[in-house]
Amino acid sequence: MTNRKGIILAGGSGSRLHPITDVSSKQLLPVYDKPMIYYPLSILMAIGIKDILIISSPMDMPRYKSLLGNGKKWGINFSFKIQKKPNGIAQALILGEKFLKSDPSCLILGDNLFHGKDLLLSLKKADQDIKNASVVTYPVKNPQRFGVLEKRNNKPYKIIEKPKKPKSKRAITGIYFYPENVSKEAKKLIPSKRGELEISDLNQFFLKINQLSVTELGKNSTWLDCGTFDSLLKASNFVAKTQLKQQNKIACLEEIAYKNKWISKKKVLEIIEISSSSYGKYLKQVIS
Ligand code: TTP
Repeated sequence: MTNRKGIILAGGSGSRLHPITDVSSKQLLPVYDKPMIYYPLSILMAIGIKDILIISSPMDMPRYKSLLGNGKKWGINFSFKIQKKPNGIAQALILGEKFLKSDPSCLILGDNLFHGKDLLLSLKKADQDIKNASVVTYPVKNPQRFGVLEKRNNKPYKIIEKPKKPKSKRAITGIYFYPENVSKEAKKLIPSKRGELEISDLNQFFLKINQLSVTELGKNSTWLDCGTFDSLLKASNFVAKTQLKQQNKIACLEEIAYKNKWISKKKVLEIIEISSSSYGKYLKQVIS
């Protein structure tokens, strides 16, 4: 295990989900049977990351604090930081400077859902590489909507944000691993034409200095962002179907914490007592 710290970026304007997001933060909306933020949080926990910074807007932060608490119920530690305005994904690494204390980091977007058999092995490998930055790519039908990684001679060559004529179908997903002192580099970024500190610019910097590794997920993994009505529905359907088929739960935080030996059986029993939903019933199976 490394001393890597996690950041979940759960702000943004959620304008593509208007009017749902007028009074609720996108990453608190349900994806089938859990709040959306549970999914990226489960990934950080499954990698083994225990110190996690939650970044959100001034309006939504109180809701995150009441949902997540200090993290002790899952054997982890949460810190919280407000992003006053959605000034770009890379700003998370500047806002997280004090929290990171120059340690390596893993930034994950609060509306990204990852699932798959070999996924964790790949992510743990990226976690182990503390010298380089790592991005994770996934084949998509509509690369125009994403940051895209172009390769030449089988090596990463260029990252292009929302290319009009994409030369690759490999989108860069919303999980990024960085070496120590990433905040220093993030501070050097210049806002793009749309006025944001672009994560693609930061990743392009690491590519340029030959410090960018790429983890390529295949079709046996799933990557969904839940930012539109259709993708939100798709994510809920995916979770419901997969859970039914596999007879287990995706992103059950107590299960991950228990299996990581971060919480005791007693702690899980306490949670079961207050959960009368199928979630509590599932936890009973986990500990028996
Ligand atoms: P997006 O989905 O690109 O943006 P958004 O959430 O504001 O939604 P929309 O485009 O519909 O207005 O953001 C990806 C994730 O990053 C999402 O979880 C929100 C988060 N985010 C921030 O928290 N702060 C930011 O400054 C940006 C740009 C995104």
